[in-house]
Amino acid sequence: MKFLHNNLLKCPLDQHALQLDADCLRCEGGHAFDIARQGYVNLLGAADKRSRDPGDGKEMVTARRDFLSDGHYQPVADKLASLIKPQINADSTIVDAGCGEGYYLEQLATQIGSSSHCRPSIIGFDISKWAVQAATRRLAATWLVASNRNIPLAPHSVDCLLSLFGFPVFNSFRSVLKKEGTLLMVDAGPQHLIELRKVIYPEVRRSESTMLTQACAAGFSEGETSTLQFLTDPLSQLQIHQLLSMTPHLFRATREGKQRAARLDHVSVTVDVVFQRLHNRGDSTSVLSSTDYRA
Ligand SMILES: C[S@@+](CC[C@H](N)C(=O)[O-])C[C@H]1O[C@@H](n2cnc3c(N)ncnc32)[C@H](O)[C@@H]1O
Repeated sequence: MKFLHNNLLKCPLDQHALQLDADCLRCEGGHAFDIARQGYVNLLGAADKRSRDPGDGKEMVTARRDFLSDGHYQPVADKLASLIKPQINADSTIVDAGCGEGYYLEQLATQIGSSSHCRPSIIGFDISKWAVQAATRRLAATWLVASNRNIPLAPHSVDCLLSLFGFPVFNSFRSVLKKEGTLLMVDAGPQHLIELRKVIYPEVRRSESTMLTQACAAGFSEGETSTLQFLTDPLSQLQIHQLLSMTPHLFRATREGKQRAARLDHVSVTVDVVFQRLHNRGDSTSVLSSTDYRA
């Protein structure tokens, strides 16, 4: 477990810088946050929670961990690494917002490590404590339970922010990104898991994403877009169950749809993913005043 000594973490309650003090992180405002024995810190303020156990539950996290560990999304991780590696150096700070159980950061760290001596700071946070606990077992990095709505990082401290299949909060993303920092969003394209969607829904609807519009309205400018499409190897019943359990389709599908999915076996599914880079080049004074953070 790594905690950073350069005033990078901030208190979610009063925004003062957090310093490592024995087995906790402490701010000068008198707030202290224990480092859990698994090696993460819970910096989720009560105001950032909308339920008692926010984010993905334990079963979803386990399903995602098992499915991703089998390598079915390896091409997604490879493409992510190829897009990020050219823009980082040893001083870079990379943050995965809504990191889940840490698969993509682990893959990224491995690929960065095997190709250079570059050792950027790597931070992952998620609102789900189950996800963060699982992530600590993947990689020695800075792992936090925290919300996209109140990111406990110093303003303008991040070079590269990732949001994979996540729930971006663009104002808060902009506030932590450096002026020349970039946000890389990875989201489902129109054909993503189409074979499964045809089985679980009576009618497959195409919904247009408004993410890009929201990001630009918050002050990001549009960078390059690329896509990746491939067909997985044939998936077993268990793997189809895991895939369904790790996506929002688990909640949206009808009971009959889920029953039909449970009967599928040996089915390949299309993975269709859009990689969208966004630049934080605008005037950021509108999203964060100088009194919002006290180092
Ligand atoms: C679909 S999963 C994607 C996880 C991971 N990025 C991946 O691709 O494997 C979405 C994740 O966002 C987390 N999440 C939901 N709302 C959040 C919020 N407000 N702040 C941070 N994480 C959030 C969930 O707990 C979940 O782990």
